[in-house]
Amino acid sequence: NWIHVGGSFGKKFRQFTEQYDFLCHGLSLSIGSPAALDENLIRDIGAFMKTHGIKHYSEHLTYCSDDGHLYDLLPIPFSEKAVHYVAERIRRVQDILQQEISMENASYYTPAPGKEMEEIDFINAVLDEADCGLLLDVNNIYVNSVNHCYDPISFLKQLPAERIRYAHIAGHYNEADDLIVDTHGADVIDPVWQILHQAYEHFGVFPTLLERDFNIPPVAELLGEVEQIKQAQKKWASTTEAKVYG
Ligand SMILES: [Fe+2]
Repeated sequence: NWIHVGGSFGKKFRQFTEQYDFLCHGLSLSIGSPAALDENLIRDIGAFMKTHGIKHYSEHLTYCSDDGHLYDLLPIPFSEKAVHYVAERIRRVQDILQQEISMENASYYTPAPGKEMEEIDFINAVLDEADCGLLLDVNNIYVNSVNHCYDPISFLKQLPAERIRYAHIAGHYNEADDLIVDTHGADVIDPVWQILHQAYEHFGVFPTLLERDFNIPPVAELLGEVEQIKQAQKKWASTTEAKVYG
């Protein structure tokens, strides 16, 4: 959103990037799209990261475009062919940026046609073949575990510890007993906090970002959730050996 923003907004943004460590998180890369990679976008991202000294870039293991762009992030078919296709595109992005990127496990509501393997095997195969990082979204694991009937903790523990770069945690919307939607518009619920605790216990502690896009409460309430993240990190930092690199 901030690429090519100049003027007073650009200056204010620059003041922040000079004071704090920043990460870039994108929505438009469309890594699984049948259309060609938007290499101009990737070069713009690289220049933006250089200008602002931004250390890392993450995206979603999804797609959102072909001829045009959608607002939704759609699931890639969990197939062997898609693993090779997506991994090669991630490698190309990393070549252009000259650094590792992280891919986020995304929520989805129906598997894409052509499913040949489980979601966990698809994610692990892509990460391995692309040799990239994982942005671990604990709420997305919970949302998918309800919508697609699997055990979130067993899924979590199959992820590769050495590839986790950081995490997302968020709230969601209950549409029905068997359908929840990843909205980032509500407080984080207890079962999702429990997955974060299990992740820290199992993998060691890693940086974690609270996502909140709307229904935004007073800042003090949001900071209460940030404090919960810090408390969880404190609890598990003292009882686990750090096993996460990067
Ligand atoms: Fe996320």
